[in-house]
Amino acid sequence: MIEAFTTPWGSEVEIFTELDSTNRYLKSRARAGAPHGLVVVAETQTAGSGRRGRQWHSPAGLNLYFSLLLRPELGFTEVAPFSLAVAVALKRALDPLGGELMIKWPNDLYGRGGKLAGILAEMEPGPDGPAFVIIGIGLNVNAKRDDFPPELRARATSLALEYGRCFERGELLGEVLEKLAEVEKIYSRQGLRGELGENINSAFYLSGREIVVVAGKERVRGIARGIDDRGRLRMLSRDGRELLFAAGEAWLEKKS
Ligand code: BTN
Repeated sequence: MIEAFTTPWGSEVEIFTELDSTNRYLKSRARAGAPHGLVVVAETQTAGSGRRGRQWHSPAGLNLYFSLLLRPELGFTEVAPFSLAVAVALKRALDPLGGELMIKWPNDLYGRGGKLAGILAEMEPGPDGPAFVIIGIGLNVNAKRDDFPPELRARATSLALEYGRCFERGELLGEVLEKLAEVEKIYSRQGLRGELGENINSAFYLSGREIVVVAGKERVRGIARGIDDRGRLRMLSRDGRELLFAAGEAWLEKKS
């Protein structure tokens, strides 16, 4: 079990044995006035949500499923790049374990064996900017290969699979929240310019590789170049133009 503790924002972590989705629950708390910095954790989720309507597989007691409520002074266009900064916070928290963690646009964390963590940032619009932002993080911690559904086994990894040992989830959560608070301060001063952008680009999983970007109904092929300071994916298209994608999903091109 994860034990309760105080977050860097001064609020309690709320821990549940089961929720449908920590994002969904925290959104309803936020609408009722919950404070900046509230963190909600669930041991398992019955309807954990991923990006693009996918489900986040959330087996009990193995991994971390949590959401953070922020009421930041950001404009609407600054929320998507912030979710890349969240990936930097995850990387900063886990880098001391050694190994090579990479960031995949739009905002996943990858280990050698595949996807280690996913981030789902959801924004509630207010009259002059976001009323609040929910940052939901699913981090695979102690899951073994068989704990993943068959269709994910070849593409997902966990800290236990990467490092060959189990981890104390409460301790990890504390580290991640510390780094989130650190990155939030940096982002509010300078966005992705400077150190956060450098962190992303130096650990960019797709860099220099042939990719397919799915953006709306479009599928575009090219070579990934990096991430700009607005969080957009820079791609060299097959006809030699530089394209910028603000949203979508990117995959490595399958070699035939
Ligand atoms: C992705 O598709 O990669 C994003 C996955 C985000 C999953 C996390 S688990 C905790 C939080 N609550 C949810 O319902 N989703 C996020």
